[in-house]
Amino acid sequence: MKKKLAVIIPTFRERDNLAIVVERLKKLLADDEWEIVFVDDDSQDGSLEEFLRLSGENSRVRFLRRIGRRGLSSACMEGMCSTGADFLAVMDADLQHDESILPKMVGILRENPSVDLVVGTRYSGEGGVGNWAKSRQMISKFATWIEKSLMRTPLSDPMSGFFVLRREVFEDSARRVTGKGFKILLDLVLSSPRPLQIREVSYTFRPREHGESKLDIIVGLEFLLLLAEKMFGHLVPIRFFLYGLVGLSGLILHLLILGLLHSGMGWQFSAAQWTATAIAMISNFLVNNTLTYRQQRLKGAALLPGAAIYAIICCFGAIANVQVADFLYETKIPWWFAGTVGAGIGAVWNYAVSSQIVWTWFRSLMASRRP
Ligand code: GDD
Ligand code: MN
Repeated sequence: MKKKLAVIIPTFRERDNLAIVVERLKKLLADDEWEIVFVDDDSQDGSLEEFLRLSGENSRVRFLRRIGRRGLSSACMEGMCSTGADFLAVMDADLQHDESILPKMVGILRENPSVDLVVGTRYSGEGGVGNWAKSRQMISKFATWIEKSLMRTPLSDPMSGFFVLRREVFEDSARRVTGKGFKILLDLVLSSPRPLQIREVSYTFRPREHGESKLDIIVGLEFLLLLAEKMFGHLVPIRFFLYGLVGLSGLILHLLILGLLHSGMGWQFSAAQWTATAIAMISNFLVNNTLTYRQQRLKGAALLPGAAIYAIICCFGAIANVQVADFLYETKIPWWFAGTVGAGIGAVWNYAVSSQIVWTWFRSLMASRRP
């Protein structure tokens, strides 16, 4: 029996592109064994009606809906997990990836049992970026350069979101991928337990016709986090690291405000210290909410009570911090060492407890109350 291909297409607000993608793939793949798996993050733009219609008309078209979650990489992962096909392709819905090279990509896997992965590339051979906005080209080139300098994967276009791999290759990496951010290809390649045999097929990136790009500054940060996680993640959970960075930014803010109020404006030390603490806490909460816990961030009416719970947890963290530091100081350990250990214990407490209580328990409580 001929091996089967699944084309996984992550979608978020792509209504006007859905029927066009299906039509093009149908023509292109014709009699081969294939299916399309759309993975949609509850777009609420009329996409659902399109999915119902398209899957009703053609049993090769399936869709997976995720409610209350976002993420391009995790959508691709779940799409790949949902199929038994032998070859797994990932492609964007917005028609920027030139689907006409897909048969060639799959052909390479069919004919070469030693090849694991075939990637559509814009940065080698005949490939190109067409008339993609200059700013986007620069971001893409810059990210590629960072990846090349840090990781040295044998990919001319590591940022590509257009590729086909064997399901065994996916299985080998599946439990190790971070699944965060936009860079599912890079995630899979960096997570493979062995070096992969990779081939590339060049294509020209097309302009987007309908809908808009979901790339933003946070996606850029997530890319750096993916690299960090793959480089150091076996040592420290990257989220904790991020949480620590946010804490550090809070400390700097704290000192600035303290300096301004106390030495600048002549406030009493303790009043200035309390004000600086409160502001730094709120800032830490907001930054963690948008960055560290982006996927499960609190919004709207949940924000204020969430911040209050966070502040209470941090108070306990501060008590633990001071208690431990005091105890160590009494044992004649140098003050800076006692202080650091205390702060470290406070940070671990704040991280562990706030992640469980604020961004897990409280968040799901608020989500279940939504009408
Ligand atoms: N399910 C789901 N959830 N899909 C998403 C999400 C999400 O949170 N965010 C984006 N998508 C879908 C979009 O609907 C689209 O089909 C695809 O993922 C790519 O998103 P775009 O917003 O069009 O991204 P881009 O064009 O800026 O970047 C793409 O192309 C780059 C160049 O190849 C991505 O594929 C990048 O990974 C890639 O580097
Ligand atoms: Mn796009």
